[in-house]
Amino acid sequence: MKDIKNICCIGAGYVGGPTMAVIADKNPTIKVTVVDINAERIAAWNDENLDNLPIYEPGLAEVVSRARGRNLFFSTEVDKAIEQSEIIFISVNTPTKTYGKGKGMAADLKYIELCARQIAEVAKTDKIVVEKSTLPVRTAEAIKTILNQTGPDSYRDGVNFQILSNPEFLAEGTAITDLQEADRVLIGGDQTPEGKEAIQALVDIYAAWLPKERILTTNVWSSELSKLTANAFLAQRVSSINAISELCEATGADVNEVAKAIGMDSRIGPKFLQASVGFGGSCFQKDILNLVYIAKSLGLSKVADYWEQVIIMNDHQKIRFASKIVSTLFNTVSGKKIAFLGWAFKKDTNDTRESAAIYVADQLIDEQANVCVFDPKVKIQKMYDDINYLDSRTDQLNKRHLQVVSNPYEACKDAHAIAILTEWDEFKDYDWQRIYDQMKKPAFLFDGRNILDRKKMKGIGFEVYSIGKA
Ligand code: UDX
Ligand code: ADP
Repeated sequence: MKDIKNICCIGAGYVGGPTMAVIADKNPTIKVTVVDINAERIAAWNDENLDNLPIYEPGLAEVVSRARGRNLFFSTEVDKAIEQSEIIFISVNTPTKTYGKGKGMAADLKYIELCARQIAEVAKTDKIVVEKSTLPVRTAEAIKTILNQTGPDSYRDGVNFQILSNPEFLAEGTAITDLQEADRVLIGGDQTPEGKEAIQALVDIYAAWLPKERILTTNVWSSELSKLTANAFLAQRVSSINAISELCEATGADVNEVAKAIGMDSRIGPKFLQASVGFGGSCFQKDILNLVYIAKSLGLSKVADYWEQVIIMNDHQKIRFASKIVSTLFNTVSGKKIAFLGWAFKKDTNDTRESAAIYVADQLIDEQANVCVFDPKVKIQKMYDDINYLDSRTDQLNKRHLQVVSNPYEACKDAHAIAILTEWDEFKDYDWQRIYDQMKKPAFLFDGRNILDRKKMKGIGFEVYSIGKA
């Protein structure tokens, strides 16, 4: 088992794609195959033109161009990849359940289970199966049961599976550097001789580029819970500073000054204290809901309530921002054009999952506003899919109230207000005088990310609202 020659990863998404690209880049002697049932996605990963890769991440195209075709392959042949690999990463999506028990809270493990069953059916030789997707604690146990109890009887008994938990800590927009210079890699496995051997095989892969001290090994459950906990702590910091932002607005304190002052305390630290319109992304909300669900299931209601408050605060921040726009615009936005700069949940990604922009737009459309969006990387259809997914109104009505343009100046022309929803760097460099001149007056600017120079904007003539500033 020690000599690893072939690795595969099921799921070519935001986690599987970049992670495998970096593993292949750093381990040129190992063949890495990324498989997905979505043929369109695989075709995009194989596109000659690197601008067409299915996800946008700074530095990703360079890594892919070095490794693709050498020892990095993208394919739809899932069975073949499973059969040929000694290590199989599972990196499929684990959305929050939208039905049944745990609806709106628990992670939907349907895709994970299908993968486990497929591996059990196909595997003829020993495999190390690695959970990469964020999963509730004790999922490894379920995967193990499926692997050991399904599959053809003829060879089931002879095949050994080791399950490892290797949670992903990369953040979108910085995925490649997060992988190349990881603070730590966490590998959880059984503390048996076979389990330890499997852990070592995975340690060796990461040790190709990371110092040994940064590769932590634990038992499976600690590893699984650490992932949920890390995301819950990070999200909690954002909700904490956002809670303070509302207090700042009411008192005349400035949230950036408060964040700087507290962040200089080395026990608190300066990161993740940027007040905003609310956190988004595929992980924070899902992982906290998951944590809450686990705590509730175990009867730990105080623990559950404590973490749920992080989500409640985040929802409040999004609602508060949209309400601020409406109240400032003389309590009516009906028929008014509101320009949105940004739709992605953060800069440097084309991912929009749980983006605050979607919820703010939804609330404004409820008020019959005409929202006009510009985002440097998000595709038009994605935005319509996002707003339709909320199911607040018909597609036709959404199309009437949500317009998407490919030029920021066009988005802002004749608008009553501009709302900044994503902190894209390029927004700072726009010709704001020109934008102001082409807007309806008074020209309102709602900076949901506090990226613009407030004084300068006021100097131009904008009526400015920034998060956490009176
Ligand atoms: C997160 C974790 O950081 C990562 O370790 C994990 O593997 C996946 O989840 P990601 O969701 O990609 O990564 O991005 P992150 O940088 O954590 O930002 C999440 C959200 O919080 C974004 O909407 C961001 O804009 C917001 N945020 C972050 C703030 O509003 N303020 C901050 O100070 C930091
Ligand atoms: P993440 O952010 O966790 O990477 P994504 O949704 O971006 O999530 O990617 C998950 C990928 O997993 C999708 O491209 C989806 O098509 C793929 N997938 C889901 N189930 C399976 C499966 N059984 N076999 C192969 N690929 C799968």
